[in-house]
Amino acid sequence: MADLDNLEKELLAAIEAAGDERALDEVRVAALGKKGSVSEKMKTLGGMSPEERKVAGPALNSLKARVTEAVEARRKTLAETALEERLKSETIDVTLPVRPQAAGTIHPVTQVMEEVIAIFADMGFSVAEGPHIETDWYNFGALNIPPEHPARQDHDTFYLKEKADGSRMVLRTHTSPVQIRTMENVEPPIRIIAPGRTFRADSDMTHTPMFHQVEALVIDETTHMGHLKGTLEAFCKAFFEVDDIKMRFRPSHFPFTEPSMEVDIGCTWEGGELKIGQGDSWMEILGSGMVHPNVLRAGGYDPDRYQGYAFGMGIDRIAMLKYGIPDLRAFFEADLRWLRHYGFPAVAKPTLAEGLS
Ligand code: DAH
Repeated sequence: MADLDNLEKELLAAIEAAGDERALDEVRVAALGKKGSVSEKMKTLGGMSPEERKVAGPALNSLKARVTEAVEARRKTLAETALEERLKSETIDVTLPVRPQAAGTIHPVTQVMEEVIAIFADMGFSVAEGPHIETDWYNFGALNIPPEHPARQDHDTFYLKEKADGSRMVLRTHTSPVQIRTMENVEPPIRIIAPGRTFRADSDMTHTPMFHQVEALVIDETTHMGHLKGTLEAFCKAFFEVDDIKMRFRPSHFPFTEPSMEVDIGCTWEGGELKIGQGDSWMEILGSGMVHPNVLRAGGYDPDRYQGYAFGMGIDRIAMLKYGIPDLRAFFEADLRWLRHYGFPAVAKPTLAEGLS
């Protein structure tokens, strides 16, 4: 019996001393394997007398069980320590710079929005926002487009499901509803731009069902068309980064302005390349006008006291013009090659002082 005690002590010490799973496995095989020390002892049972076996059998069996248990316990401890070591060695330093090839780019729409905001902020405008899902009233009615007005047909409107009261929400077809929402919330004078997403059921080279506009609204007691023209000229020069720009204000019609004008900028096509600023061709860039008295009234303003101008411009469109991007649909296809080609470095935020692009 004493030799069994000694064997157990030896084995348990060896198990405890095993520094890794491989060493532990060696100890296990040396004890419990076919030719292991415990197995060899088991083999001697056959040559014993029944009386001897009665004592030695259970003793050996319980030794085997204790050794097996000790091996499993040690295996668990080793696995836990190994995991802890790994976790310690595999920590990531999140302050390290990212790999340069994994750097993202700023989408041209975001870039142009930032440029537009920087230019108008410099002229004292602030940024206003409104919801993408609008009521019929904000998108049409308040903008002097009553239900039967033909202008509704131009808008290719996406309608939501009819509500119990028969009304239908719409995906805003332009950023003009923000005019009304702003008038409802602030007292004049107002000087805001509202960049954002707009939606129309239309798709070709120059139209996508989702696109971007920027709205402007200036209201006070004295603002007139001269201010509108001056502001637009200053904007165009800054945005297209040219010292001089040819502009044309063409009479037009919008229900929400009176009078209304569409604005074109001069351009040329030299060797297939579009040059903005001078030349004999014209490119339409926005709609504008003096805010209609009905719109002022809908916004809660007294049209006998207040007046002002508004305009709405396609952001994607001026991005295409400025950066020579031919197909609008590519803007929203998330093609990495396109994004790398037309995207902007993520660190350079456009400012007037440091250059827009
Ligand atoms: N909302 C018009 C559109 O989407 C653009 C527009 C024209 C906005 C004239 C204006 C404006 O504020 O005065 O086509």
